[in-house]
Amino acid sequence: MDTIKSEEQVITMTQFRKDILTGLQASPKFLQAKYFYDHQGDLLFQQIMKMDEYYLTDAEMGIFLNQSGDIAAMISAENTPFDLIELGAGDATKSIHLLQELRERELEFSYLPIDISANVIRHLEEVLPLQLPGLAIKGLNGDYFKMLDKGIALSNRRKVVLFMGANIGNMHMEEAMAFCRSLKEHLSTGDMLVIGFDLKKDPKQILAAYNDAQGITAAFNLNLLSRINRELGADFDLKSFEHYACYDPESGACKSFLISEKEQVVHIPGESAISFGAYEPVYMEISQKYSLKEIEAMARATGFLSKHLFFDEHKYFVDAVWIVD
Ligand code: AVI
Repeated sequence: MDTIKSEEQVITMTQFRKDILTGLQASPKFLQAKYFYDHQGDLLFQQIMKMDEYYLTDAEMGIFLNQSGDIAAMISAENTPFDLIELGAGDATKSIHLLQELRERELEFSYLPIDISANVIRHLEEVLPLQLPGLAIKGLNGDYFKMLDKGIALSNRRKVVLFMGANIGNMHMEEAMAFCRSLKEHLSTGDMLVIGFDLKKDPKQILAAYNDAQGITAAFNLNLLSRINRELGADFDLKSFEHYACYDPESGACKSFLISEKEQVVHIPGESAISFGAYEPVYMEISQKYSLKEIEAMARATGFLSKHLFFDEHKYFVDAVWIVD
């Protein structure tokens, strides 16, 4: 890790250390899944998205490949100019189909992708105008809500927010509610949200997506321990932790843990040693699955009206269109 950093990185590094310590000193122990995504984690997540077991990406891609025309029609029904703001845009491989449809309809809109990664934003600003000549794009690099404020302040056009990829599933339900409520508070009546949910389905299929045969998801989880070793100088022995995923078909919570396979002590320079009991779990991530009833209830409870549901052909996944009430 570089010792010379920009001020922003120093703050991030301090926050990383603080959050890791908070989680490892808590009982029960936990780590925050947002820290999965360093360079290696990004690569592993790309591999996850290509796995046979991980049906989510193909399902949502199917929706955007086959129904972007209908989504575009719904978004533009009012026939007024708008800003399309994407939270966590990534490489925009799904939303590009929607952007294409919107361009073909000659609609007046700007695309404002928000992402925590400066590289992602730079790449999108470079590549998308080549693929979609004339596209008005303004990337916003940073925290979702800070960037949303910034994006909203750019114009007084109506807003359409995209929050795809089942990212809402990485929040506990109450957290997801608070997130949607907060989104609603940033928006105005008539603004839209297109939000992707992974649906409750065969529990075996869900579990397989988070417990793949090749061990890519295990590597994805264990990479956070490597990251802590790399960035904080810790001495986690990766071989003595095992990835464990479980799915509760009642609540729809799919959870990942790293289990300490033996009693052991881990050191982080400058901190007291951290002890692990045999089979002690470290909670890593939730991937919450939803029923249609729960999605509808969430829309209402957070100040939205549910306008339409776009399903993939197997009904594994849904992109819901909500309107601020
Ligand atoms: C990013 N997010 C929606 C993924 C999910 O399905 O919860 C992260 C992931 N974790 C393990 N596999 C994929």
